Amino acid sequence: MKEFRIADLGCSVGPNTFIAVQNIIEGVELKYQTLDHNSCIPEFQVFFNDHVANDFNTLFTSLPPDRRYFAAGVPGSFYDRLFPAVSLHFVHATYALHWLSMVPKEVVDINSPAWNKGRIQYTGAPNEVSEAYSAQYAKDMESFLCARAQELASGGLMALLIAAIPNGTLHSQSTLGMMFDLLGSCLMDMAKMAQVIILIAGISK
Ligand SMILES: C[S@@+](CC[C@H](N)C(=O)[O-])C[C@H]1O[C@@H](n2cnc3c(N)ncnc32)[C@H](O)[C@@H]1O
Repeated sequence: MKEFRIADLGCSVGPNTFIAVQNIIEGVELKYQTLDHNSCIPEFQVFFNDHVANDFNTLFTSLPPDRRYFAAGVPGSFYDRLFPAVSLHFVHATYALHWLSMVPKEVVDINSPAWNKGRIQYTGAPNEVSEAYSAQYAKDMESFLCARAQELASGGLMALLIAAIPNGTLHSQSTLGMMFDLLGSCLMDMAKMAQVIILIAGISK
């Protein structure tokens, strides 16, 4: 193999992505060395992917100067195809796959039993709400896996680090659940304050 292509999906602006990529490259190089194939170590090409709105300028200006790989940015959603068929050897994604492609329609529909009353999270919400999020997650994961199934070369590897909780643990008892509960209530307070300010501004006109 002459060229080893790595993709970090949902890379953000660094520095975590650079550390992950470096670890992958060192792992592959070590494998070649232990097999006594030093002279065959491939060249590495790394694709940094995130949404189009990601700050790719910051990402590229902070690329490690001593890197041993060719870097390229790939804008777009990882729930769609991003690469040609059979072109990737290692796909990596850390703490990105919990971002759904969209808010499930039911949770913002006041007439639905899954209406989430404006909240951003399902901790402590009725089952219908978490089921709506679960269904969206299943749909998104299927799209993700179908796209990668086409893009990965035969024998290619994929490493996905995803936030999870053990079976049987209540969302309200998980660290993430508590964190999103707090974050959600802060956002709702901010939205209420913004409404009051708009109202006051309207009255004083
Ligand atoms: C919490 S950050 C994780 C960043 C980095 N992987 C890390 O571990 O530090 C999640 C990143 O995933 C990106 N992301 C979320 N959904 C995405 C999608 N559908 N396609 C591409 N990137 C996505 C976000 O824009 C964000 O930069």
